Amino acid sequence: MSASRGKFNSRIGFILAAAGSAVGLGNIWGFPTQAAGNGGAAFVLMYLILAFCLAYPAFMAELIIGRHGQSNAVESLRKISTSKSQKHFAFIVGFGGIVCAALIMSFYAIVAGWMLAFTAEPITTAIGATQTSLWLTEQSLSRNLIFTSIFTILTIFIISRGVENGIEKWSKRLMPALVAILVSLTIYVLTLDGAVDGLKAYLIPDFSLLFKPSLVVSALGQAFFSLSLGTSVIIIYGSYVSKNENLVTLGVSVTLIDVFIAFLAGLLIVPAMYVAAAKGVQIFDANGALISGDTLVFTVLPALFDGMGSVGIFVSLSFFSLMSIASLTSSISMLEAPVSYTVERFNISRNKATLIIGLIIFTVSSIIIFNFSALFGFVIALTTQYGQPIIGMFCCIFVGWIWHRSSLLEELKSGNDNIENQLFWKIWPWYTKLVCPLAIGLVFIHSVAS
Ligand code: PHE
Repeated sequence: MSASRGKFNSRIGFILAAAGSAVGLGNIWGFPTQAAGNGGAAFVLMYLILAFCLAYPAFMAELIIGRHGQSNAVESLRKISTSKSQKHFAFIVGFGGIVCAALIMSFYAIVAGWMLAFTAEPITTAIGATQTSLWLTEQSLSRNLIFTSIFTILTIFIISRGVENGIEKWSKRLMPALVAILVSLTIYVLTLDGAVDGLKAYLIPDFSLLFKPSLVVSALGQAFFSLSLGTSVIIIYGSYVSKNENLVTLGVSVTLIDVFIAFLAGLLIVPAMYVAAAKGVQIFDANGALISGDTLVFTVLPALFDGMGSVGIFVSLSFFSLMSIASLTSSISMLEAPVSYTVERFNISRNKATLIIGLIIFTVSSIIIFNFSALFGFVIALTTQYGQPIIGMFCCIFVGWIWHRSSLLEELKSGNDNIENQLFWKIWPWYTKLVCPLAIGLVFIHSVAS
């Protein structure tokens, strides 16, 4: 491939960048919220099953397509297609994924903007700027536009610096910071009154809820969103992986980190809700179920932090910085998907492509902000409930039905000579060919039907 293509310089660089993409609002905001709204531990259990049994194989499919193609998502999919119609299909799937990533970024930047605003709030409160604090924490056009643009600019800055100096370097800095803040906060919250009740709700499953269709659908959607599937992001990150790397262990590492962080975030947030309840904050709705939705992070937790006195300022600052960092390592992957395509397809400079795409995405974010009630939920549903599962399923179909088995094996052998004798090669190919598309398809049809 052309010498100008970026490459991850180290194994740990790739793992942290891909885990950085995977670990985001989906883990720290989405997962605990969904767990709280779907019966706690039963959801956690189903999520673990689906993450390993469906999302991990699909993740491997995208990773391998990318490493083989050493190019943007459209080109990488085209490389494994032989007939003309397959190449058309490759374009639809690859380009669909890129559009999906850009659309996800357009709403993600809004939520991440809220996180930035909530990070600034403890500081304005500490210096007594009450009016500013209020503005930072209340919904308004001005706040949303300003913070969405700050977040988008940060993302543009990192992506314009390329793979090694941007994505890899920043992921290596931000991911350890994220884990450190998350672990310290969790330990702290678990020492507070009420936390044990939260732990019970989070860890002891009610097995009768396990196969509830709505729970299964939410858990699968959550697993796909969390592993950044169906957006061409993993294809493009895979394309920056060296041919000497063992893809199977890379994929396992990223999946384990992602699942572990989601689990840890639940260990923080669900007990934190019960701690808040012990301090008199309302955490159950009229039906006696745990409240969920965006209220969880933006009302229950600040109420909890407020009740902690001066420590609360630090806890709040750490928590919302954590959310902002996690959002940033994910949004850079979303922007990289369209940028890499534009750079390679139209042969323009990375800086220019990043700026143009960043501006387009910011325009879409602004349209959403101006038409919030009509568009925000709609774009989330369109991308996460429809776009991601369908495109993720098509990637499995590419690997299972279109890609020649011998060429697939050769790609996997690169960096892992012995793959033919390993369990992975005995199970994964037919599993990805038959079980994944069928299971994803079934869950998808069910979610559309209901
Ligand atoms: N996986 C990210 C999260 O959990 C979100 C994401 C989706 C990132 C799609 C890239 C592509 O927050």
